[in-house]
Amino acid sequence: MIWNEIYNCDCIEGMSRIDAGTVNLVFADPPFNIGYSYDIYHDKKDYKVYLDWSQKWFDEVWRVLKSDGTFWLAIGDEFAAELKVIATREVGFICRSWVIWYYTFGVNCKRKFTRSHVHLFHFIKDKENFTFNDTTIKIPSARQIIYNDKRANPNGRLPDDTWILRPQEINNEFTPDKDTWTINRVCGTFKEREGWHNCQMPEAVLERIIKVSSNPNDKVLDPFLGSGTTVVTAKKLNRQYSGFEISKEYFELCKKRLQKKQ
Ligand SMILES: C[S@@+](CC[C@H](N)C(=O)[O-])C[C@H]1O[C@@H](n2cnc3c(N)ncnc32)[C@H](O)[C@@H]1O
Repeated sequence: MIWNEIYNCDCIEGMSRIDAGTVNLVFADPPFNIGYSYDIYHDKKDYKVYLDWSQKWFDEVWRVLKSDGTFWLAIGDEFAAELKVIATREVGFICRSWVIWYYTFGVNCKRKFTRSHVHLFHFIKDKENFTFNDTTIKIPSARQIIYNDKRANPNGRLPDDTWILRPQEINNEFTPDKDTWTINRVCGTFKEREGWHNCQMPEAVLERIIKVSSNPNDKVLDPFLGSGTTVVTAKKLNRQYSGFEISKEYFELCKKRLQKKQ
């Protein structure tokens, strides 16, 4: 298994080729089992089949991670509770944070409240020993920039576990004239949108995760590449990267996206 390469294969098969205890960070955004339309993957498995399969690939994530490694899991409401129980009670991970990534675009529900969030679980193996680079993701506090309070910590504060980009967190990507105050889903008009994978995650979400849970030159793995946001962002942040994608079509497009990224 060569790092800084991606592979067109099943993720369990792919991870079985990685030596145990060698990966620093795994980020996974698996199919949510909600009947979503993918190129070749069938996203509506029997409940038990989906849970058993999830445990199998979680086991591989546990095996490949270093003892101080981190596993971030993105998942929808339908299976968030069950997958958290499997990851913690069956596999052995410790849940550090249950983050809600809040967004407000692109979903319209009927006869229920419109879905506006995804769950992001921050799992670790060892509660005494794991990477958490707080200084790389700190934000200015309200005390600092709104109330101008002399008692404010000049180093800022850690973001909340509900990820909304607030006014004091705005960088050049999220300016008021763009009307984008949250870390939005990747909308049709966004510069970063690839347009061939409907689940493309924003680089801003991956940036925060990769910065806080890994260091430059660390190994970052994504078992479900999709459009390749994790590996593209890892490359940008000077991490080693790898990942697996079962669809040949997505894999080829993902390779092209990676090549474009310097
Ligand atoms: C939710 S998408 C990932 C989206 C990705 N986070 C992004 O930003 O584009 C899940 C992807 O997993 C792929 N997939 C499904 N089963 C797989 C498996 N067993 N091994 C590898 N990839 C798989 C699907 O084809 C799909 O592209």
